[in-house]
Amino acid sequence: MTRRSMLLLLGVGLARPNRAATTPEEEALRRKEKLILHSPRPLDLETPPEMLDSWITPNSRFFVRSHFYIPQVEAGKWELSIEGLVQKPVKLNLEQIRRMPQFERVITMECAGNGRSYFEPRVAGIQWRKGAVGTARWKGVRLKDVLAQAVLKPEAKHISFDGADTGLVTAPDFVRSVPVAKCLHPDTLLATHMNGVPLPLEHGFPLRLITPGWEGAACVKWLAKMTAAPDEADGFFMKTAYRYPTRPVKPGEAVDAKDMAAITSLAVKSLITRASGPVEGVAWAGEADITRVEVSLDGRKTWQEAKLGSDKAPFAWRRFRLDAKPSGAVFARATDSQGRTQPTTPAWNPSGYLHNTPDSAPRPEALKLATALPPGEGLSIAREKCLPCHDHTIIVGQRLDPGRWTREVEKMMRWGSPVSEKEKDVLARYLAENFK
Ligand code: HEC
Repeated sequence: MTRRSMLLLLGVGLARPNRAATTPEEEALRRKEKLILHSPRPLDLETPPEMLDSWITPNSRFFVRSHFYIPQVEAGKWELSIEGLVQKPVKLNLEQIRRMPQFERVITMECAGNGRSYFEPRVAGIQWRKGAVGTARWKGVRLKDVLAQAVLKPEAKHISFDGADTGLVTAPDFVRSVPVAKCLHPDTLLATHMNGVPLPLEHGFPLRLITPGWEGAACVKWLAKMTAAPDEADGFFMKTAYRYPTRPVKPGEAVDAKDMAAITSLAVKSLITRASGPVEGVAWAGEADITRVEVSLDGRKTWQEAKLGSDKAPFAWRRFRLDAKPSGAVFARATDSQGRTQPTTPAWNPSGYLHNTPDSAPRPEALKLATALPPGEGLSIAREKCLPCHDHTIIVGQRLDPGRWTREVEKMMRWGSPVSEKEKDVLARYLAENFK
């Protein structure tokens, strides 16, 4: 590790708030009800399924996914710039965006990693259970109206979206690109409001891209810059993360980069929110519509059709209900307008995306997470070289084999953790022994 990244890392450490200062993450936590905390900073929060009991998810219950720290954006100084392959590069402030025609859409948003903790073998990443999903009323302008002001050149095939957040030390910036066809879809929005109020800071204030039916990572928060380009954006969050195999893979199999493609639409999926009778839940299918939800009360031998709720919108989940008094395990499976039904075995993939086997309830016991890093030979290395950027919470939730722990430590070394080769082995062994 270079002297420069060591100094940068110290900078991150020093920039950590002392006890008196309030971070945007702490403020966000105050606005939330009691959600499952996967990491306090970067902030990652999940909604327990029983709290997803309405068609619209209140902001206080909406899950939060952040790769880095929440940037504090000053509304008066903020500008969105549109550049690259456009005839007229444009800069828009919030007032100009507010004066454009406004649209409101109810859209379900789900993190591609939702359900990751159920994959075997386990993979690194936030260990989401079931509730990294929610549905909100998003209001703002159409992306196509904004692009019309800049006038795309014919060679423009993708737009990349960059938010005001930045990577830490040598970690890459979070930048995502979306093909032009999706950008021009009339329901693709640049949202300023969520459920009737300006976007809360943790959900992307002042402007968030909403790509209806697509995974949450394509809904870039704190949007500041759009660049039209001929190709998909480069960078870690397009070329390494959020990619899915284009061919079937065996659990645990390594997959060549050429056999992976960027994730777009979400899968067909259901989630039981109440299993005590009546059975209730929600089901969604990305860009497709839910046509049917079935419930099994006898361990998936027979299925009964549930009644779908009357609230619906093209990219929003449907509620379902079955009047029954279950005495044992309950399962739900959804079918969509493309004829897809939830598969019985999970399609394992290297980063644990799009988990969607039929939902079961009662749910498996919640993981008992360690509240601190345990004693051991690697503890002092971890304290000094892992905890400047995030606390132990994000680490103790992982369950990885030694090979995967080594790869995780190497990833963090590339991102700026100044671990030496010798320390790497000690640390990886310590982590693999404690979190397997
Ligand atoms: C330079 C800052 C930095 C340092 C130092 C650092 N991390 Fe991280 N780490 C991050 C960030 C940022 C994330 C969140 C990334 C995300 O959510 O996509 C993260 C996420 C993780 C995760 C969750 C899985 C994943 O890959 O997203 C684990 C596990 C982890 N770090 C372990 C470690 C360990 C072990 C060390 C010490 C060797 C370490 N980190 C040091 C920045 C750092």
